[in-house]
Amino acid sequence: MMPTATAKPSTQTAPWTKKDLLGLRELSAGEIRLLLQTAESFREISLRPIKKVPTLRGKTVVNLFFEPSTRTRTSFELAAKRLSADIVNIATQSSSLSKGETILDTVKNLEALKVDVLVIRHAAAGVPHLIARHATSSVINAGDGSHEHPTQALLDLFTIQERKGRLEGLNVSIIGDIAHSRVARSDIWGLTKLGARVTVCGPPTLMPPQIEQLGAPGAGGAGVRVTHNVDAAIRDADVLMLLRIQHERQESMLVPSLREYRLRYGIDRDRLKGAKPGLLIMHPGPVNRGVELDSAVADGPFSVILDQVTNGLAVRMAVLYLVSGAPKGDEDEG
Ligand code: CP
Repeated sequence: MMPTATAKPSTQTAPWTKKDLLGLRELSAGEIRLLLQTAESFREISLRPIKKVPTLRGKTVVNLFFEPSTRTRTSFELAAKRLSADIVNIATQSSSLSKGETILDTVKNLEALKVDVLVIRHAAAGVPHLIARHATSSVINAGDGSHEHPTQALLDLFTIQERKGRLEGLNVSIIGDIAHSRVARSDIWGLTKLGARVTVCGPPTLMPPQIEQLGAPGAGGAGVRVTHNVDAAIRDADVLMLLRIQHERQESMLVPSLREYRLRYGIDRDRLKGAKPGLLIMHPGPVNRGVELDSAVADGPFSVILDQVTNGLAVRMAVLYLVSGAPKGDEDEG
């Protein structure tokens, strides 16, 4: 059943006390608001002629990506550089991991080099959590298997808030491969904690068991609405988030064909004829054009896909700043 809003959620932030950012499940609404507010304060740095402030000077960030990435890895690198931190990218295929070194030994060796923040992407759920338990440096989850992708969800929340002025009371439909999507899970936690109503839509084979129970209790009530009818998911939506089919996380083909998927769940202009005015089209990327989303929609007037990428930079600057202990540092030199 669709949860109904009963009270306006608090707009208060909570102080940041955590060493790591591992997921949105473990954050309070106040901590999520603090992250979004901090990102807002960092956003204008990237609009300056000299896009750099000394805030994290002397800190060292390591990108440790065991899976491919364009957006997340690059924006963590740029975020660190814009805050004047040193950043090292470890190519995991050519590191000593390929000679049999364990991931925890790799981390211990990096810590021996006095690094401050480890940004981890891994195909297995829970790897950033394991590392965080053994590391003294801060750990940021940049995507772990089908579990969570907290900075993607934060940039999604930021983009919706920027465009709509609020999150509470909005209807957000997430369409696609929900079962294998870490983005869907983090978005469900973030959106429901901040009072949005979430509907998930996709083929039954791509819907995880008990998904309707995921999400925060709060103003909107616990849980999400589930539908397999894409027109029902579009009808009342203020925001549509499209997801690609995550072939790399499927053990067998869970939809008959991509053509069939496109016919039933793909979003094109015709399908949006009954949508609410001001609908936002979002996608975490990479987009499989012509499957979950036609180019006319991906590049159309409702799309905020590239705004999401832009906002990811401010969000990752905020995350690096907060997990680094929000150093006061020198005044802005920009
Ligand atoms: N959205 C996202 O995580 O994109 P990348 O895989 O390119 O980092």
